[in-house]
Amino acid sequence: MKLSSTRKVVWALVVILFSLFIAELPLGLHSDSSSIVEASKVDYHTTSNLNLRSGASTKHKILLTIPKGKKVDYLSKSGSWFKVKYNGKTGFVSSSYVKKAAVPAPSKTKTPAAKAATPNKVEYQTTTNLNLRAGASTKHKVLLTIPKGRKVDYVSKSGTWFKVKYSGKTGFVSSSYVKNVTAAAPSKAKAQPAPTKTAPTPKGEYQTTSNLNMRAGGSTKHKILLTIPKGKKVEYVSATGSWFQIKYSGKTGFVSSKYLTKVNAAAKPAPEVKPTHINGVLLVNKAHGLPSHYAPGENKEARAAFNQMAAASNKDGIKLTAFSTYRSYDYQKTLYTNYVKKDGQAAADRYSAKPGHSEHQTGLAFDISQTGAKNPFAESKATKWMETNAHTYGFIVRYPKGKEHITGYMYEPWHLRYLGVDLATKVYNSGKTLEEYLGVK
Ligand code: DAL
Ligand code: ZN
Repeated sequence: MKLSSTRKVVWALVVILFSLFIAELPLGLHSDSSSIVEASKVDYHTTSNLNLRSGASTKHKILLTIPKGKKVDYLSKSGSWFKVKYNGKTGFVSSSYVKKAAVPAPSKTKTPAAKAATPNKVEYQTTTNLNLRAGASTKHKVLLTIPKGRKVDYVSKSGTWFKVKYSGKTGFVSSSYVKNVTAAAPSKAKAQPAPTKTAPTPKGEYQTTSNLNMRAGGSTKHKILLTIPKGKKVEYVSATGSWFQIKYSGKTGFVSSKYLTKVNAAAKPAPEVKPTHINGVLLVNKAHGLPSHYAPGENKEARAAFNQMAAASNKDGIKLTAFSTYRSYDYQKTLYTNYVKKDGQAAADRYSAKPGHSEHQTGLAFDISQTGAKNPFAESKATKWMETNAHTYGFIVRYPKGKEHITGYMYEPWHLRYLGVDLATKVYNSGKTLEEYLGVK
């Protein structure tokens, strides 16, 4: 018996504690979202899937995407961006895509923070000639008819009707005949007077200036098909207000044109240079260049010919050294840049080719001098010997004396070009430069 009465007491305590707990639960939740804290807190909810970023611009990293219709806690304002808290994370959202939530405010006085936090103007565009009425039904008087394609300023919602402002007048329109064209860019997003402003001559290629949502339709109400990374090229299809229908990665969809920049056709790199062959002879000079990726390395046949020539000259007591043969585009660039720094461009252009214009990039040009010569670029027994004999090994002196007006370069007794014995002999016998022999400039 004693035990049972003790049990009763314990049970009574359990019941009391439990009911206290239950009662405390909503109280606790309530105090969390109202009272003193709530008086200064402003809640917004997202009107679209909305990126929460680490800073107040689209340049900042996306922390997460807040789904449409979610509540965020407003913290402060930064231009047209709001610092907010969502899901324990603090970040920034474009204020264009949040709407003040109906807060069961205990005090009706707006805090200064709340006042400063008025979101950007929400704009809609009429999709047909549309009556602006005195009230939110077709029973009300028509104030005026808004032509199709005009922007109206959204004021509030009343069932399926929107209270809007158009041309200085406030009235109601059926929300079925307007589409959201709110500027996505939070920056200079002042009302555009006409849709033509945003789509003057839009044809061509564009580049995204931010990670950009491609949607199924021309407003933020439409489903996101994919997010195009920043800096990607997209192809213009058509324009509706400030929205462009575009093609990207095989998909067609809509993006806010505020985050596109036109790809300037003039800024495109020049068409790729191609090697020039005249009667099967590769010609490289000031007028005919090579692409930067043209990199054949030293020509094996030319090297073998040089070895033979060197062996032959040796018998005449002359030692030849090939001190510069194949040069890459980049190496020539370094050389040329340094020569320009040292002597100025006009002087450098007389003895050094610009990158992409050096015969050395063909792998067929050999700069040869006397082994051990103090100055490999001076005339020597070796250069004299080559002038008479080089063609019999397949080389010509490419920049002869007195031919600068044709070749574009000063006399370079050391610079030989491999053409093969046949052609080198013909050119040698003609007494012409390679340009003259081939009949080209
Ligand atoms: N010295 C010659 C012209 C070159 O730079 O290719
Ligand atoms: Zn050379």
